[in-house]
Amino acid sequence: MTNISLDGLRRVFGSTVAVDSFNLEIASGEMVALLGPSGCGKTTTLRMITGLLAPSSGDIRFDGQSVLSIPTEKRGAVLVFQKHLLFPTMTVAQNVGFALKMAGIAKSEIDRRVNEMLELVELGGFGPRSAHELSGGQQQRVALARGLIARPKVLLLDEPLANLDANLRITMRQLIRDIQAELGITSIFVTHDQEEAVMLADRVVLMLDGIVQQSGEPKSFYDRPRTSAVARFFRNANFLAGHRDGNVIRTAIGDLEIDPSSSGDKSGPVVLTVRPERAGLRENSQEPNCVPARVKTNIYMGTFVELIVEIEGSEWHIQAGPGCELKPGDSTSIHLPKDAIWILEDDLPPSNAVDTEPATAEHER
Ligand SMILES: Nc1ncnc2c1ncn2[C@@H]1O[C@H](COP(=O)(O)OP(=O)(O)OP(=O)(O)O)[C@@H](O)[C@H]1O
Ligand SMILES: [Mg+2]
Repeated sequence: MTNISLDGLRRVFGSTVAVDSFNLEIASGEMVALLGPSGCGKTTTLRMITGLLAPSSGDIRFDGQSVLSIPTEKRGAVLVFQKHLLFPTMTVAQNVGFALKMAGIAKSEIDRRVNEMLELVELGGFGPRSAHELSGGQQQRVALARGLIARPKVLLLDEPLANLDANLRITMRQLIRDIQAELGITSIFVTHDQEEAVMLADRVVLMLDGIVQQSGEPKSFYDRPRTSAVARFFRNANFLAGHRDGNVIRTAIGDLEIDPSSSGDKSGPVVLTVRPERAGLRENSQEPNCVPARVKTNIYMGTFVELIVEIEGSEWHIQAGPGCELKPGDSTSIHLPKDAIWILEDDLPPSNAVDTEPATAEHER
């Protein structure tokens, strides 16, 4: 069991700051998802943890001991890549047992552990097959088995499911989760897919442009995004500027009541957000926290309808039931439940926000 500390980790390539001020404590046996868009520094972070790349500054500790002077092969951190690079001319069993063979372990012991690993990744009986005779998902599982067989202290997974189709990804996610829990191995799973991150991990760390933006349990990224950048990454583009006055936010679309226990602490000029799935449709706008809106687009998504509506010149995304038949041009009313209104830390109104001035009397209902 190993805990990991990243302390002020930074890596610079020429004038590119790939990773900066990265502080993180990962508990023994924890599964953390490191989430972020392409180029934000995820792989660079993993390469530093394995020892394939030296940090420009900062420290990496396993169980409190700095590992910076320990070479990769002795660090005990295994990296499984997106592209499963199996040895094509070897059998599955030879691929999985490769590290043990290099370490000079007896053949009978290798055979026993290879079989154990193949059972774990649900490939029992595949040992004699040639590696190139496998499907993509099976190859990925062999790569996982090959990484795990040396009983690493730390498992690092760099977008291991990116090449797989949607159904196989779901199956593999569950398999990885189950294996990780069974072995109790401290793990970091890198992905750019926020759904994958929240489904897999105990804790999510969101990185943008080399900087950690927010770290916490998966739900907090939906309920309590720190900034509009975090909210946007989690597919929310509903923002509105206003002025908080006690438990009311005065906005250009009217006064909105908020629930202080679920809205955040900030007062004065604020930017609020409501997730698309938390906003509702109403027949009329007489209820508190209802605002008139005009439908711009109705996109059928199978299990729900994504409505894009215009509210006083700004665009909002609303998730309606799959039977919603509102058409472009229709008038409707949007309900922003008071416990769904969350105040962001940002000072500046994001691009779709309306005027920052407190609402005037004529805007108020
Ligand atoms: N060896 C290198 N030399 C120069 N720049 C590099 C090097 N490796 C990474 N970078 C730069 O550092 C930044 C972070 O790269 P990194 O590979 O860590 O991103 P990533 O989050 O893994 O992206 P992706 O999701 O596309 O794999 C990028 O701007 C990249 O161009
Ligand atoms: Mg990468």
